[in-house]
Amino acid sequence: MPAVAGSDIESAGNARLQTEQKTTQQMQRIAIIPGDGIGPEVIREAVRVLERLRETHGVELQLTHFDWGVDKFLREGVTLPAAALEMLANDFDAILAGAFGDPRDTANKVAEDVLLGMRRGLDLYINLRPVQLLDARLTPLRDREVDDIDFVVFRENTEGAYCGAGGFLKKGTSEEIATQEELNTRRGVERIIVAAFDYARAHGRKKVTMADKSNVQRFGGDLWQRVFKEVASRCPEIQANHQYVDAMAMFMVLDPGQYDVIVSNNLFGDILTDLGAAIVGGLGVAASGNIHPGRVSLFEPVHGSAPPLAGKGIANPVGAILTAAMMLEYVGSKTASAAIEKAVRESVANNETTSDLGGSLSTEEVGMAIARRLGS
Ligand code: NAD
Ligand code: IPM
Ligand code: MN
Repeated sequence: MPAVAGSDIESAGNARLQTEQKTTQQMQRIAIIPGDGIGPEVIREAVRVLERLRETHGVELQLTHFDWGVDKFLREGVTLPAAALEMLANDFDAILAGAFGDPRDTANKVAEDVLLGMRRGLDLYINLRPVQLLDARLTPLRDREVDDIDFVVFRENTEGAYCGAGGFLKKGTSEEIATQEELNTRRGVERIIVAAFDYARAHGRKKVTMADKSNVQRFGGDLWQRVFKEVASRCPEIQANHQYVDAMAMFMVLDPGQYDVIVSNNLFGDILTDLGAAIVGGLGVAASGNIHPGRVSLFEPVHGSAPPLAGKGIANPVGAILTAAMMLEYVGSKTASAAIEKAVRESVANNETTSDLGGSLSTEEVGMAIARRLGS
């Protein structure tokens, strides 16, 4: 599973992703936040796999659990506890989270404070979401082999439509006006585009495709266009390509093989990566990292809390388990990370899957099957 490893690439120019590898002997401090709905069920299986890697691969992890989520909010009125961000930044190497959101939290305050709070507060500006077909049988697309769908999405993760700016005028009246603003800073746009090109260079990818809606969003779109051309001109060995996001949604279904690295803003990246998940087996298998290279970073499956599945033991834990693999790669345990990916591929090939992938196993049974395949 491709990840960005620890280095700081804040500045543009010739900044490259350096892989500042740590050794597996070094104790890695991991915060575990299972969250809501199916979050605790899938994270339990990701933790099972991590515990297994302690025995099979000598991975040294110190796991600390936090009960942040809707239950705690309803019980204590607390979403993200005071000083949580400082604690995560100072005392942890990585965070593994499940999902946030529950119909009882009608204003979605927990996801806003905890999830978006960590993304913004820890300045996790890269949302790296691989779209990789693990087994040809998983795609709903016709006649595709595993090599036909293998790309990564760099989603800007701290601004855009997620900046929270806007408001109401005359709320509750027939003349009500609601504004919802989008924020694009030069620094924010540049650093995500630089990260996408750096990743392409470091991972032997040939092309970066930017998706935007600059034919309509004239101001933000113009900034993204200018910065993209500028950064691309500094990376002549990487092909720079542009598509409007609506066309990209179509091509992602009709011709996903054309993509290597995609870069887009926060909202388009969110939508495109659910579509990306769909073409490789669904939300149950999609992994993601919220990354600021060199700093504590947050890893979570792409899916949400899936209320209809919660408590039934049928959620697919593969997305969470592959997310744990991305996290291990980030903290320097590359071999263990690759071992997880291999075990997942084998278990899928042997039909050890939950019902969303056509199998009949429970969440726990899939976790145990993958853990067993890690060897002894
Ligand atoms: P969702 O991703 O939770 O689920 C959509 C559907 O995808 C599910 O009903 C199910 O059919 C399928 N699915 C998702 N995960 C699966 C899994 N592991 N195994 C099998 N099938 C799976 O999206 P939603 O229903 O739009 O949102 C539900 C809640 O989750 C909302 O509160 C939303 O805000 C929140 N959410 C949170 C995150 C996050 O914390 N990162 C991400 C997305 C949505
Ligand atoms: C995701 C989710 C979140 C987002 C929600 C829950 C705030 O959809 O992680 O993809 O929109 O980023
Ligand atoms: Mn989403």
